[in-house]
Amino acid sequence: MNNTQFEWKITRKKSVGSTSEEVPERPLRLGVLVSGSGSNLQALIDAIAKNELLDTEIALVVSNKADAQGVQRALKHRIPTIYLPWQSPGLSAAPKNAMLSASEMKLTSLLHLFQVDLIVLAGWMRIFSGSFVEQFPRRIINLHPALIPDDGTGNTFTTQDGSTIPVFRGLHVVKMALDAGVKVTGSTVHYVTPEVDAGPVLCREEVAIAEGDTEASLHERLKLVEHRLIVEAVRVWREMQ
Ligand code: GRF
Repeated sequence: MNNTQFEWKITRKKSVGSTSEEVPERPLRLGVLVSGSGSNLQALIDAIAKNELLDTEIALVVSNKADAQGVQRALKHRIPTIYLPWQSPGLSAAPKNAMLSASEMKLTSLLHLFQVDLIVLAGWMRIFSGSFVEQFPRRIINLHPALIPDDGTGNTFTTQDGSTIPVFRGLHVVKMALDAGVKVTGSTVHYVTPEVDAGPVLCREEVAIAEGDTEASLHERLKLVEHRLIVEAVRVWREMQ
């Protein structure tokens, strides 16, 4: 697989008046993967529409669920949208060095075809094999509704108020935080690596747990933060190229 076509580059272009200016070769092309409501996809759509994310376009939305609300959001904005039924072990961890599954092969082709530079997992509920992830080093980012340490590893996280809380990974992490009785949780955007929810962090924000919070109320507040965070993550990623 030729990885170079995924390299979004900044070229130095000389303007007529002899001043030089850095301009993108072409807009950054996002591939957004969703499985559900797609409110974070919507945050990206809105940020682009409001020029809060410059020189960026959503090249492709892929959903593993035909009836995901995210699909309707994308179609409403005339974004190329593909329903890709997913045949894989789901959220049970795929073997690290497994071959690409048939679904991963199809997804890889689509990402190439649509010349995606950065793959954004915005509520994507499928686990990739190590082989899939390794095709796109530092080019897949994931939004996770819990706090992950800077380098992605470890089982504890120190919050800004100095308390140590467990790192919640996998499914139902909003409930896990409530069940653990921690006072603070949050959301993180991190690089995707073969280990689940364990890649280096791009950005993160803490959210206080209120008395009487339910999984739904807390997740709703986390999502409000995520809608800023996912946009910020794309900016941060781009600045790092
Ligand atoms: C978000 O809370 C994200 O952290 C998690 O899935 C949720 C997706 O929400 N991975 P939405 O589909 O963007 O509304």
